[in-house]
Amino acid sequence: MRIETSRNTERIGSVTINDVQKVLELDSGRAKELPVEEKIAVQKIEQDVIKDIEKKMAIVVPIKDEKVKLFEGVISGIPHECPIIVLSNSRRRRVDHFKMERDTLNQFCHFTGRQALIIHQKDPSLAQALEEAGYPDLLAEDGRVREGKAEGMLVSMLIAMMMKKQYVGFIDADNYFPGAVWEYAKCYASGFAMTKSPYTMVRILWHYKPKMSRGVYFKKWGRVSQVINKCLNSLISAKTGFESEIIKTGNAGEHAMTLKLARELPYASGYAVEPQELISILEMYGGILPPDRTKAAKHGVEICQIETRNPHFHEEKGWRHRQGMLSLGLGAIYYSPLCGGETKKVILGELRQQEAVGQEEEPAQPRLYPPLKQIDLQKFAEIMQEHMSSYSLPEEKE
Ligand code: GDD
Ligand code: MG
Repeated sequence: MRIETSRNTERIGSVTINDVQKVLELDSGRAKELPVEEKIAVQKIEQDVIKDIEKKMAIVVPIKDEKVKLFEGVISGIPHECPIIVLSNSRRRRVDHFKMERDTLNQFCHFTGRQALIIHQKDPSLAQALEEAGYPDLLAEDGRVREGKAEGMLVSMLIAMMMKKQYVGFIDADNYFPGAVWEYAKCYASGFAMTKSPYTMVRILWHYKPKMSRGVYFKKWGRVSQVINKCLNSLISAKTGFESEIIKTGNAGEHAMTLKLARELPYASGYAVEPQELISILEMYGGILPPDRTKAAKHGVEICQIETRNPHFHEEKGWRHRQGMLSLGLGAIYYSPLCGGETKKVILGELRQQEAVGQEEEPAQPRLYPPLKQIDLQKFAEIMQEHMSSYSLPEEKE
């Protein structure tokens, strides 16, 4: 893969945020030396380097009641070396969607010799493992894991840690283009190859997100992304005193992290999770709040934003869904101790304009989960292992 070198980097405390780097070539050819001048402007990440990282990178597919055809396409796009973790919160009544997903994955693994795992978010053994390992925060009153994409992501990160992987990457299950999925995974691996810190995050910026209205229109920015980026940049600008537009991937669902970083961060519930990751990184390592003396602060945290070539085309879930996502994402920014009066004003203006909150109201505060490092991973793994035969594929036992 050939990717632009980042031309602009902002440093906030121990956090380095690289400006968007575009993919120039999906396939950059055989390994050979590049002329020196080319090396400065672009980076060539060799196939073997990518493959080595993929082996250590679990790809998580969170899924809730998506079309099984789409899910099938998504898993077909995940590079062969990456182990797959499917975290499903799909319906099990009348039509058992989870079973359909499981059968699809099973068949895929059978014919491709893949390593994969599928777990239902509401599986009682999962809840038991979390409870006994000292991380009951994820459990609802009914004793099962709470609803939400973030909740599924947190469980998957624990599974990836249990599998002793080094990296974890997330890819939504409702993507229409397997080629885009493939590219996301390649970009994650390339991002990790380009960055130096063991505490790194790679976030994807879509080249285009096509919309259907009297023909196809290749839209660059979604409204939710635009507003979330604007508010995160407003927060950064207010703190540094220099106007910034560095954040272009504030709510990127497609993103990846080293597990070293993943275990350190507090996470927000549901769709607030992605903006909160950036907020958590800035709060912990941005040098604005009392300094953090962990290893991550010493090494520095690197955030890489990569713009892909494939357009992102996924299920359209409607205006109300987007409005909910916006409120949650902005709520994560609004309640950060880093968020000053100016940024709060911008957030309220946006939410009121979209009628997501009333004129006198404030956004709801998303639930915050403590860092995953506080769990007794060995205990969690022991309990999960007991049930592993029912999660792992293809050796399925009912
Ligand atoms: N396990 C699990 N549990 N998965 C869920 C849940 C849940 O409760 N809710 C949704 N998902 C899955 C969906 O099935 C899908 O695969 C993925 O999470 C993303 O959900 P969507 O509902 O498709 O979200 P979106 O497309 O509107 O938003 C996506 O992109 C945004 C950036 O534009 C998400 O990835 C957002 O998190 C992201 O901010
Ligand atoms: Mg979607």
